[in-house]
Amino acid sequence: MIKVTIIGSGNVGFHLVNLFHNSTKINLNEWCSRSIDFDERVKVINKIENLSESDIYVICVSDKSITEVSDKIQFKNKLVVHTSGSTPYNSLNNKNRRGVFYPLQTFSKSQKLNYSEIPICIEAENNKDLETLKKLSQDLNCKHYETNFEERKTLHLAAIISNNFTNFLFGISKEIIDSKNLDFNILKPLINETVNKIHKLDPIKAQTGPARRNDVNIMKMHENMLKNEEIKSLYMVISKMIKEKYGN
Ligand SMILES: NC(=O)c1ccc[n+]([C@@H]2O[C@H](COP(=O)([O-])OP(=O)(O)OC[C@H]3O[C@@H](n4cnc5c(N)ncnc54)[C@H](OP(=O)(O)O)[C@@H]3O)[C@@H](O)[C@H]2O)c1
Repeated sequence: MIKVTIIGSGNVGFHLVNLFHNSTKINLNEWCSRSIDFDERVKVINKIENLSESDIYVICVSDKSITEVSDKIQFKNKLVVHTSGSTPYNSLNNKNRRGVFYPLQTFSKSQKLNYSEIPICIEAENNKDLETLKKLSQDLNCKHYETNFEERKTLHLAAIISNNFTNFLFGISKEIIDSKNLDFNILKPLINETVNKIHKLDPIKAQTGPARRNDVNIMKMHENMLKNEEIKSLYMVISKMIKEKYGN
């Protein structure tokens, strides 16, 4: 059984502890957290310097702290991976064997996830460790993809646009709806269908709306309704891009 230590108890660390704990094929040895003192499933250690030996250390901390945390691991020649989409593995201290275990999903502590649907992007300095990361993903029932740094940061960029930006736009539509005391729930079937549709249709083909139809009058009316200048510019920039994409 692969013996694993998770370092970090933010959104990703919290979910990876659930994921690793749920697997009967993995020995979740310790969880290192500065902010949690006890967990009934796994031994909690507050200081990285006090961790015991494991086969793999999974660092799930803020990107800017990955190097510092990897420096503090007291062992040598262990497999140490981080979970970042846009950090190279050589940010990790080279006293250990280095790799990446990037789960391409959006994690919030309060939100339950279907873990078996999470793609894991893996990378390692040597083939033996890559095989270990493949086995680890399989033991977790997760699909894995071997990706180099160039590929991983490209996927991360696309993920930011698909998830973070879309969610931000959902927030703007909610504010618009709230400002007129309407119910955001009325919009949810449309939001669901927007996502469902791309399982069957290429997003380029799925585009609808006034900009796609070049309905100038409607777009002008919407621009006048938007009092916030930044949101108005956003509306105009995206509409312009859609019009140009579809030859209007
Ligand atoms: N959130 C996502 O959806 C997502 C998805 C895929 C990958 N990732 C990647 O996963 C990593 C963790 O992201 P996250 O969303 O879990 O971040 P987060 O929720 O902000 O949590 C960051 C964690 O890092 C710990 N930390 C920060 N600096 C530290 C230090 N110097 N020493 C020890 N611990 C330190 C924090 O500990 P304290 O709580 O004690 O401050 C906290 O537990 C990042 O590399 C991120 O890019 C995130």
